[in-house]
Amino acid sequence: MKWKKEIEGLKAYQPGKSIEAVQKEFGLSTIHKLASNENPYGCSPKVQEFLAKEAFNFALYPDGAATDMRSTVSEHLGVSGRKLIFGNGSDELISIISRSLLRPGVNTVMAKPTFSQYALNARIEGAEVREVPLKDGTHDLVEMLEQIDHETAVVWLCSPNNPTGVVIDDSALSAFLDKVPQNVLVVLDEAYFEYITNPTYRNTLSYIDEYPNLLILRTFSKAYGLASFRVGYGMASEPIIAKLEPVRGPFNTTVLSQAVVSVAVEDQSFIDMCRSENEKGKQLIEKFCTAHNLHFYPSDTNFILMEVKTDSDIVFQKLMEKGYIVRSGNVLGVPGYVRVTIGTREQNEGFLRQLSDVLKDQGVAI
Ligand SMILES: Cc1ncc(COP(=O)(O)O)c(C=O)c1O
Repeated sequence: MKWKKEIEGLKAYQPGKSIEAVQKEFGLSTIHKLASNENPYGCSPKVQEFLAKEAFNFALYPDGAATDMRSTVSEHLGVSGRKLIFGNGSDELISIISRSLLRPGVNTVMAKPTFSQYALNARIEGAEVREVPLKDGTHDLVEMLEQIDHETAVVWLCSPNNPTGVVIDDSALSAFLDKVPQNVLVVLDEAYFEYITNPTYRNTLSYIDEYPNLLILRTFSKAYGLASFRVGYGMASEPIIAKLEPVRGPFNTTVLSQAVVSVAVEDQSFIDMCRSENEKGKQLIEKFCTAHNLHFYPSDTNFILMEVKTDSDIVFQKLMEKGYIVRSGNVLGVPGYVRVTIGTREQNEGFLRQLSDVLKDQGVAI
């Protein structure tokens, strides 16, 4: 067959192990999945109530323009519906952007390590991937700017960055945006936006009017707790959205997902509760790290990348045997660290207890 040479040797995304698989393998009754930065509180109870009482006609295609969801999100954000594009998760928007702009002969600039889908999609399209190492867990925007040349089509910024959790400083961001050539698309992925508590963070929404080459990505998968419904959205100037819309599948969000997003957006008290509980969990884990002299990155997300002072894969495996699934730093490009999703109080306490035991067993002086 005539496969694109670009997909030769590509590995399929390795999701964290499922709860069921770990339960079966280790004969455990309770598993805490703290590997994929999902919301430990689920989603708004209003979504559950809505789903219990509403009936849907599943034989009909969804509204391809997502009219109701578009107007709810538009109103909530104060952003015109014509400046919004919806995807089957922000994952799909990353692929739509890549299909639209990347090809052999062009390059794309991103941080390293960062969210893996930017590089994967770029490779599928045959573009050159230029990775700029992070500095102290955040983007080195000065060096990223250096890497931009006439062939650069897209720059990916992840703020807060996955896997470090560090948010990009606002003054550095605006200075960067001021200098990026207008014909280069800057994608600012804010998947964890709702969790940001950093007082220096400035809401970036007004930037889409200031910078016509900027696209901001956000998602309903994280703080909204709707990962299984697969809805992410992009915000940008109208000409950018108009270019991307034809590349989007006509029915890429479903009847159910459109309906539940509209309900979830109306319940901001749920988001406030999640942010505030997340903050408490974050402080607990940070306190543990500080007390035991384990380095961690200051996170503005619902996960923490923390040092374990031994092989991350061993810590990952031992924690899994005890019912806690985390992400090994080895697969994230940060050996010697694990990334753990901040869970409920009970989960965080349990995780720290088990981690202490694992590290002691491994001879780590804590
Ligand atoms: C930085 C970042 N961007 C995008 C995504 C994809 O989110 P989704 O496709 O569920 O909207 C994730 C998921 O982990 C992420 O961490």
